[in-house]
Amino acid sequence: MTRTVLVTGGTSGIGRAVAARFAADRAEVYITGRHADTVERAAKELGVHGVTCDATDPGQVAALAARFDALDVLVNAAGGLPGPAPGDVPPLEGVLAQWRANLAQNLLGAVLTTASVQDKLGPGGTVLSIGSIGAERRGGSYGAAKAALAAWSASLSSELGPRGVTVNVISAGYIAGTNFFQGQMTDERHASLVGETHDKRAGTVDDIAETAHFLASPGARHITGQTIHVNGGAFTTR
Ligand SMILES: NC(=O)c1ccc[n+]([C@@H]2O[C@H](COP(=O)([O-])OP(=O)(O)OC[C@H]3O[C@@H](n4cnc5c(N)ncnc54)[C@H](OP(=O)(O)O)[C@@H]3O)[C@@H](O)[C@H]2O)c1
Repeated sequence: MTRTVLVTGGTSGIGRAVAARFAADRAEVYITGRHADTVERAAKELGVHGVTCDATDPGQVAALAARFDALDVLVNAAGGLPGPAPGDVPPLEGVLAQWRANLAQNLLGAVLTTASVQDKLGPGGTVLSIGSIGAERRGGSYGAAKAALAAWSASLSSELGPRGVTVNVISAGYIAGTNFFQGQMTDERHASLVGETHDKRAGTVDDIAETAHFLASPGARHITGQTIHVNGGAFTTR
């Protein structure tokens, strides 16, 4: 049976690799991003459907959801580090703007998208959201948003579980080959992040894509309400 898969933030990095992994299975894959040109280009390269949609905009998300009668897999990969508030903003307003932007980008986009399609997921359905090691340490407003993402996801699991839908977070460590660091990654920081891992390497987008593919497979139906850490041991749960 052909599965229908929606990947938000599928134009680059992790979301793009996840989309490619499901497309390789001949799933009917839809990707989103906020910019029409990159959405169109990535969709063409991957051979999937592209929809321009800002996950934090309720009207755009509703229009996206209206395209689906039924959905098998939702992967909330959209997220990232919003820039700082402009310099002329008074300090507290700047703090508020940064927190609001991070919560919108890394929590509310996933909440809105999921709310818009959750009734279209049937038995065997899967909701995945990409969290971060930043939820465990040194994350600031970004980490707080990702920690809330995991808390929300666990509670959604109890809501959708009785319908046979699993809900999990894949918490990524440092993943190279994405636009996440917006060109700011230095050799020193890269070496330091790799040094924190047990396997002494950066994560790859395929590490996350393969985990997502497994969590949406028949072998993973009893895994729900969890945060699955994919970080080479940089953070351990014991
Ligand atoms: N790379 C890492 O080391 C790392 C580590 C832990 C967690 N993560 C998480 O992994 C996820 C994917 O990030 P990435 O590393 O793959 O970075 P990326 O290469 O920058 O990809 C982010 C994707 O999300 C899209 N996007 C951002 N905001 C969006 C919005 N509001 N609505 C729709 N699409 C949006 C981007 O496209 P547009 O900008 O064109 O909209 C792009 O397609 C994020 O949630 C990030 O927090 C990354």
